[in-house]
Amino acid sequence: MANSPKISPYPHRHLLGIEGLSVQEISHILEKSDEYVDQNRRADKKTDLLHGRTVINLFFEDSTRTRTSFELAGKRLSADVINMSVGSSSVNKGETLIDTASTLNAMHPDVLVVRAGLSGAVQLLAEKVNCAVINAGDGSHEHPTQALLDALTIQRRRGKLQGLNIAICGDILHSRVARSNIYLLVTMGAQVRLVAPMTLIPSGAENLGVEVFHDMKAGLKDCDIVMMLRLQNERMQGNFFPSTREYFHFFGLNYEKLSVAKPDALIMHPGPANRGVEIDSEVADDYSRSVIREQVEMGVAVRMACLDILSNNLQLEEAK
Ligand code: ASP
Ligand code: CP
Repeated sequence: MANSPKISPYPHRHLLGIEGLSVQEISHILEKSDEYVDQNRRADKKTDLLHGRTVINLFFEDSTRTRTSFELAGKRLSADVINMSVGSSSVNKGETLIDTASTLNAMHPDVLVVRAGLSGAVQLLAEKVNCAVINAGDGSHEHPTQALLDALTIQRRRGKLQGLNIAICGDILHSRVARSNIYLLVTMGAQVRLVAPMTLIPSGAENLGVEVFHDMKAGLKDCDIVMMLRLQNERMQGNFFPSTREYFHFFGLNYEKLSVAKPDALIMHPGPANRGVEIDSEVADDYSRSVIREQVEMGVAVRMACLDILSNNLQLEEAK
């Protein structure tokens, strides 16, 4: 009997966003990630799964967590990892993002991890290269690995995503973290609430399968998870709220507003946090409730799983 061709449970070349992924595809990435959490807690964290593969990190916007964790993820799987520093590259001489990507593509990388300031730029770039592309955040569009690491954090703490009440609070309008989380959590059957001033809610948000609130206490009532977001000042043109002081007064998370959530509600933040703007320092550092450090830990595991899955897909393609 002829061998039937192997089909990947995540049958895509790239990871450009969460929108359109199925429950099975998301679950597959989360299951693989879970295995990597255990590997990362061992003394010997390294395997040679990606030996011979090349991963290039191409970040056109600032990053601490995402860039470092992709580097660590690639190294723990024994890939050759290159961090291209855009600040000292020929981008400064006027080379475009697409030309930069084509130049790197000519060096035969296997995976390009890209963060870009413009929504849609990573998708465009993926159409111009031969390798797998992972979106590490594009403008206010998507940040898929952030949503996956958030889901993994919640799932490990609560054992499920389905049926949980999850409040995403703050600058929803400009946040790629919010968008990817909405797609993922709604697909996985969570009840998602968006809590923000009217000016920071995208038009048509209700059509995404979420409930919208403009008052923190109404939005946080009895919820299981409170996910806070930073004001994306770098994407704001004009005034969206009178002052950061007033913003903190109405929308900053403190114990008083948190008191209406479930007593064991978890506090999340993708980072970087602006203390005293969207979150009170005391709440952020309350490790009986705040899982911010765990989110960072899960980030490495999720990125290892994504590199593993995409390079396995490349191998299946190469074997054809
Ligand atoms: N680090 C996340 C992002 O790049 C969230 C943020 O910057 O506020 O989207
Ligand atoms: N959460 C997140 O993407 O952080 P960085 O911007 O530091 O990568």
